[in-house]
Amino acid sequence: MPGEKSANPTLDAGVFAVRLENQIYPNMESKAIDAGPNITSFLHETRVFPPPAEFAAQANVNSQEDYDRLYRQSIEQPEEFWGTQANQELCWERPWDQVLDWQPPFAKWFSGGLLNVSANCLDQHLDTPVANKAAIIWEGEPAENGMPGEERIITYRQLHRDVCRFANVLKRNGLKKGDRVIIYLPMVPEAAIAMLACTRIGVVHSVVFGGFSAQSVADRIHDCQARAVITSDGGYRRGSIVPLKKNVNDALNLKNAEGDLLTASIGKVIVLRRTGEPVAMQSGRDVWWHEELRHVGIECPAEPMESEAPLFILYTSGSTGKPKGILHTTAGYLLGAKLTTRLVFDLKPTDVYWCTADVGWVTGHSYVVYGPLANGTTTVIYEGAPNYPEPDRFWRIIAKYGVTILYTAPTAIRAFMKWGEEWPRKHNLHSLRLLGTVGEPINPEAWMWYHRVIGGGRCPIVDTWWQTETGSIMITPLPGITPTKPGSGTRPFFGILPEVVDDNGVKVAPNTGGKLVIRKPWPSMLRGLWGDPQRYQDVYWSEVRGSYFTGDGCRCDEDGYFWIVGRIDDVLNVAGHRIGTAEVESALVSHPSVAEAAVVGRPDDLKGQALVAFVTVKSGIQTGQQLRNELRNHVVKEIGAVAKPDDIRFAEALPKTRSGKIMRRLLKQVASGTEIKGDTTTLEDFAVLAKLTQVEE
Ligand code: PRX
Repeated sequence: MPGEKSANPTLDAGVFAVRLENQIYPNMESKAIDAGPNITSFLHETRVFPPPAEFAAQANVNSQEDYDRLYRQSIEQPEEFWGTQANQELCWERPWDQVLDWQPPFAKWFSGGLLNVSANCLDQHLDTPVANKAAIIWEGEPAENGMPGEERIITYRQLHRDVCRFANVLKRNGLKKGDRVIIYLPMVPEAAIAMLACTRIGVVHSVVFGGFSAQSVADRIHDCQARAVITSDGGYRRGSIVPLKKNVNDALNLKNAEGDLLTASIGKVIVLRRTGEPVAMQSGRDVWWHEELRHVGIECPAEPMESEAPLFILYTSGSTGKPKGILHTTAGYLLGAKLTTRLVFDLKPTDVYWCTADVGWVTGHSYVVYGPLANGTTTVIYEGAPNYPEPDRFWRIIAKYGVTILYTAPTAIRAFMKWGEEWPRKHNLHSLRLLGTVGEPINPEAWMWYHRVIGGGRCPIVDTWWQTETGSIMITPLPGITPTKPGSGTRPFFGILPEVVDDNGVKVAPNTGGKLVIRKPWPSMLRGLWGDPQRYQDVYWSEVRGSYFTGDGCRCDEDGYFWIVGRIDDVLNVAGHRIGTAEVESALVSHPSVAEAAVVGRPDDLKGQALVAFVTVKSGIQTGQQLRNELRNHVVKEIGAVAKPDDIRFAEALPKTRSGKIMRRLLKQVASGTEIKGDTTTLEDFAVLAKLTQVEE
């Protein structure tokens, strides 16, 4: 597919192999496993942890035979399986009449059906014992006298009322079914309220992570032609204030190269008061959330939506400069989110469930908001950072609310390890019964620490593999039955058929590395890229004909367990966030001093991967620490702090092939300090490489 494929997956994977062996898995018994043509995997983890007997005895899925039978049925008769699940799990306004209409690569699930997501998450609980149960337990970041404290507990009934009222605010501001709205909020309950209110009236939301810059907000508004932005005066992060409204104001003034406003589609900005800091409001365009509420009632019937009505767009990095607007639709997405939350996290009515992801990422959509609420679960939301005011903030929250299930990212676990066991040891973590991880491969060291220190040796760990595109968890243990192996996401969820294949799309032998593909469509799969069906086809469905290409390298072992070895395209996974190297490169090149830039990843103990930028400057420009700082700040301004390069190395020239392509695989090797290996015969100028390997900075 043009411009999106890695030039050389073989060597990309080689870098991961080095990472696995030397950096992240220092104490592991490791041996090279047959590479096959694609990927060498050095990971050879031999420990197996069966589900603890006590956990298995009470689990929702506790019979291996039942799982095997149901999994077989879900693959052999997917329409029967998914049809039954859709009827059992979802509340329909009108029943669907066809499970799947599959015109590869375009899928329609549950055609003919009508339903509403907010009604499934809220209204269905109102006449049940769940009505007055906590839907959201929220803990704010600000700390008073060193003691964090602000909390709000919102029952299902209250949340229903808040959502209805805010949906009426959206209507009052002219928004209607099919319109797109940007949500750019801190981790406050209103983020969930805004999302649910959109779904209630059929407005399509696109949540933008609060760490993204004004430019990123503007680009997303422009791409989906959003009509409104929902934001706040600011949010708290590590004791300081993130100026969200100011960023929105800046975004709404940004112009393209022709001098046209990027954001001309925006008619309204609805502003939540969070910090109380003064912000500039433009009359006619900007309104305060709390003032608007005064003008609306609490009745707002849920709009019956077609199964395939767009539900949300979430932008994620691809390997070209432009973020991809991943589109999810109503019924299939909700079914995936609901079913996986219940089975993977073994939900019980008494659980207090905490997924630490921000709502700006897909994990926050599926496992903070939609999955838990559709199941009538209590979901915990925390506004701030894990180490503010002290590195025990997470453990304090778990003890305070009696959290039973914790779902977080390996990068956070590695940070906790670094901060030391004394912080969790200060708190009573006995309420915990299940732990989860997501976002990147977890190194067995971190898995073992999580198991021992946080889980007290008694909690199963579910290492869940999935993507923004997949909508819900795809490869995962079921905690009552699946023996876990540290570092593996284990086996596929019901209805999911993953395979590891070679360059020809042929399934490879066990323990051979290759590309991870999904062979069959599934209900919560993305339906496309907003406004770009060709790119959808090119990126996901052209690499291996007829299958969904994940972009991940993988190995499947003799027990059918999947081991992700990392990305094989030019997308990095930094602290659990996907960052397209091309995006960072185009941000760097937009700086007036930069002539050319290439961004690659190097292994990083804490973040998984770190961003290294090789930069050549225009003639006459002075390089040095000052420019380095300026460029890092420039990337923060263009994209956001998530994409800030860890290292900027100035180079006189970049290694290129004779046809002028930058040889990234060489840069990766330089960046990670490994020996330069592989074919260099196409390299145009060897002197460039020699200079790069001597880079002093
Ligand atoms: O490379 C895989 C990695 O994260 C990518 C998806 O990133 P994103 O769309 O941002 O979604 C993150 C949260 C679902 C995947 O292609 N990844 C995610 N979970 C795991 C993982 N790698 C290994 N193990 C996981 N459990």
